Amino acid sequence: MRITGKNLKLIVNGLTVSYNDEGPINAPAIIFIHGFPFNKSMWNHQLEALQEQYRVIAYDVRGHGNSEAGDENFSIDLFSHDLLFLIDALDIEKPILCGLSMGGYIALNAIGKFPEHFSGLVLSDTQCIADTPETREKRMKAIESINTNGVEKYAEESIKNLFAVQSFSSKKEEISAIRKMIVETSIQSLSYTLFALSERKGTCSKLQDIKAPVLIMVGKEDKITPPAAAKMMHEKIQGSLLKIMEHSGHLSNLENPSEFNHQLLRFMSQFVKNPIHVKHLKELVM
Ligand code: MLT
Repeated sequence: MRITGKNLKLIVNGLTVSYNDEGPINAPAIIFIHGFPFNKSMWNHQLEALQEQYRVIAYDVRGHGNSEAGDENFSIDLFSHDLLFLIDALDIEKPILCGLSMGGYIALNAIGKFPEHFSGLVLSDTQCIADTPETREKRMKAIESINTNGVEKYAEESIKNLFAVQSFSSKKEEISAIRKMIVETSIQSLSYTLFALSERKGTCSKLQDIKAPVLIMVGKEDKITPPAAAKMMHEKIQGSLLKIMEHSGHLSNLENPSEFNHQLLRFMSQFVKNPIHVKHLKELVM
């Protein structure tokens, strides 16, 4: 039997995973995968906007939010296995995946392994390339700095790169929510995930095999996974849609949620079969 609500718990791949699962059971399902080092609450605006018509699921990647970390070393491969186990445990057939940054790496890894398992893909502020040697070195330095100077300092440094210039005055609440998500992540999970990110394989050569509909969104001022990276994926994925988001840096779903949700809803209604129409839904509950 399906349980709906927020902060639900499920044992997946040997560890307790925290997730939200809302919206009508028979509607197409979309699974939201957060970036690093955040948690499922970064998708609250999107869940609210979609849950009347779609089954919406957001979960905490292992070691983040309220999900356990487990005993293994982290890797994007391991995160994508966790996702596949979660899909199975929730009995979802052909979900749509929506991943931001690290969430996009996980989604691309999963769709690369099982292209037939997904009915659509939304890639936000992400990329298909592996880390360059310079980026790897920066991650190793970040691990050192977290261990020496603590998580607060790491959060302050990260935030400088995450947002568009104007967001620093217009999105203060979102920035403090993101700061909280970072400082609440354990030092071990931060270090393990930084290492996992540095070791991840590129997925660019697999993009041409994606046959599901794909929407790519990226903040115009994204410094971490810039518009050029999104354009490269757009060129490689046949039929994909690309939207460059105004007023956004790396966290376009939080910095410009109205445009993000508009694009998402349009994509879902154009490409995803049989959404539950609001009118129909109301009839069902009356
Ligand atoms: C993220 O937002 O998930 C990270 O910026 C990804 C990365 O550092 O490559």
